[in-house]
Amino acid sequence: MTIRCGVIGYPLAHSISPAFQQPAFDYLGLDVSYRAYETPPGALGAFMQGLRGEEWLGCNVTIPHKREVLDLVDDVTEEARLIGAVNTVAKGPAGRLTGDNTDAAGFLKALIEDAGFEPRGRGAVLLGAGGAALAVAVALLRAGVSRLWIANRTAPRADVLARSLVGHFDGARLEVVAMDGQGLRRPLAEASLLVNSTSLGMAHGPDPDASPVPPSLLGPHLVVYDLVYNPPQTPLLEAASRAGARGQEGLPMLIYQGALAFERWTGRPAPLAVMMERGRRALRGR
Ligand SMILES: NC(=O)c1ccc[n+]([C@@H]2O[C@H](COP(=O)([O-])OP(=O)(O)OC[C@H]3O[C@@H](n4cnc5c(N)ncnc54)[C@H](OP(=O)(O)O)[C@@H]3O)[C@@H](O)[C@H]2O)c1
Repeated sequence: MTIRCGVIGYPLAHSISPAFQQPAFDYLGLDVSYRAYETPPGALGAFMQGLRGEEWLGCNVTIPHKREVLDLVDDVTEEARLIGAVNTVAKGPAGRLTGDNTDAAGFLKALIEDAGFEPRGRGAVLLGAGGAALAVAVALLRAGVSRLWIANRTAPRADVLARSLVGHFDGARLEVVAMDGQGLRRPLAEASLLVNSTSLGMAHGPDPDASPVPPSLLGPHLVVYDLVYNPPQTPLLEAASRAGARGQEGLPMLIYQGALAFERWTGRPAPLAVMMERGRRALRGR
């Protein structure tokens, strides 16, 4: 029997997860079929019930189901509880489902290993207050940043995000600032890291040509990490390069969160080089 695995979300046309997960199963000779299962909100409950069947290994979860899945699994890891979202479901014995979140760990691995940035004791500016921003905030606070400034177009959402973190991490100073030139000027002068977790600059997103910060506020003292992975070179990363800042593209985080999910499902080390190469190839085809 071919075992099934996949990604659920709605819509799913943008997902490149099948392009790098299936080759990983194939590379290890595992008889698993990984597909995109477009799942409208009304169909989520039935899908999750079906996932308990013996032919399933588990699934990845993406927009808009990451929060709802929290209530549809039997166990939730501490990480997923803190982030308030599930991106990976693993099936255990007797069809028991565990919801986990590998986004924060994937982000941190890319930050340290690909960008060469050690967060402990440094200051960081985080743009955005959606699901990805919360995972990034948890990762940075756990890794010991000394200060975290959070800015979002809809300011009350940044307040909610900041409040959800207070009490979980001792010692870090959290501050919500306006997402405009005035609000970001001082934080960007003092910080060593800027992370964009808004969807600005994303192909087919709200504004593919926009940078979320005025380029004049960037400088060589910053590492600029854009979570947007399509296109690989975003308007923000182009501005960072012109300002002499070091840039970090979004694809490695996507691959690492997927690789961690792969390891939860299979108990085997993920073939990272294969996954990265296939991920890049899939983006080139977009
Ligand atoms: N590299 C990776 O592995 C990875 C993983 C997850 C996500 N991502 C990327 O991260 C981005 C955010 O994902 P998400 O899941 O957090 O999405 P989300 O929950 O929908 O949040 C979207 C964020 O973008 C902001 N935004 C949207 N349109 C904007 C505009 N016109 N001007 C200013 N801000 C705007 C939103 O601000 P408001 O609150 O004001 O609406 C919100 O903060 C996406 O591009 C996604 O592809 C990458």
